Amino acid sequence: MVKPFLFARTPKIIFGNGKIAELAGIAKSYGNDILLVTGADSFIHSKHGEYLLNTFDMTGIHYHIVNINREPSPEMVDLAVIRHQNDNIRLVIAIGGGSVIDAGKAISAMLNRSESVIEFLEGVGTKEHPGTKLPFIAVPTTSGTGSETTKNAVISQVGVGGFKKSLRHDNFVPDIAIIDPELTLHCPPPITAASGMDCFTQLVEAYLSNKPVPFTDALAYDGIAQLRIALPRVWKWGEDLEARSGMSYAALVSGISLANAGLGIVHGFASSIGGMFNIPHGIVCGTLMAPANAITIKRLMELNESSPALIKYAELGQLFSGEEQRSQDFYLSYFIDILISWTDMMNIDRLSKYGVKSSDFENIIQLTEQKNHPLKLSKEDLTKILESRL
Ligand SMILES: [Fe+2]
Repeated sequence: MVKPFLFARTPKIIFGNGKIAELAGIAKSYGNDILLVTGADSFIHSKHGEYLLNTFDMTGIHYHIVNINREPSPEMVDLAVIRHQNDNIRLVIAIGGGSVIDAGKAISAMLNRSESVIEFLEGVGTKEHPGTKLPFIAVPTTSGTGSETTKNAVISQVGVGGFKKSLRHDNFVPDIAIIDPELTLHCPPPITAASGMDCFTQLVEAYLSNKPVPFTDALAYDGIAQLRIALPRVWKWGEDLEARSGMSYAALVSGISLANAGLGIVHGFASSIGGMFNIPHGIVCGTLMAPANAITIKRLMELNESSPALIKYAELGQLFSGEEQRSQDFYLSYFIDILISWTDMMNIDRLSKYGVKSSDFENIIQLTEQKNHPLKLSKEDLTKILESRL
């Protein structure tokens, strides 16, 4: 029998090469004044950026620009709101990586409010956001976070007492996501690697989640199948459009999968470590993925060799190896070997590069939630995971 489940809404999804050309026409249908949230002006000065601004001018759209150059803090969101709350904005468009899309999502939710965004952050603020917001369109230029399909914006304050928490409401799912793989062609290799490993982690954690639903299993597996071919190719040949398209698709379905099935221990670490240190989200995910999955498989084996989670891990090993009729042990080892070799191949940084020390482990572990991980890992296991990538 199919178990009861809930499947969250998704944006209207417009996917395909060259689809950015439709943005001005869509934007115009909302009104003449828009707020354009982008990265540290790299997109605006690209061929696609210049084309887009020209089409805005030709369509009579008046745009204001907000630049987001790192993971958004409450101050960055509040400042954008203060600057533009009297500009009669009808639509917010975010074009960039996950940080830019999260910032745009939060700004669209805060433009008509007078409070600081911090008051609505989960675990930090005390107020509940009513979900009212301006229309919001997300246009990713990296393939990673899947923020273009999710209902939360991650807001960070780094340092002592720092946090990485979400502004979340069902209504914050973007109204429209335009996913044009051509926009990711010039994403530099380190960002391609980190965002690609974030996407990989999201797909695997949603697939292995302790609350999967039939849709997410199918989507996450399909996303992993695309990523298996595409990620090594975009790492080696950034301008391989077919592979970029595969990564754009994998990132899109990773967002839909995680929004419904949840995430696991690696994203638990990404929240705790990301609040304490200035370290990119994709690096935490990429660096911890291999040891976290290796220990999880070891513990699952000790408990029950035919557990559903181990069967799923073996399915992933089979997918990556392309081999039939091999033992479960073969497939499990194959999958972990892939994670280790990809981490090495893409030179994913270790934690110490960002100032993490073994004396921080206690604090990190205390703040780490295990989310929807397939089993609960011990404090010793969590310490081993961190030690192996210090
Ligand atoms: Fe992530």
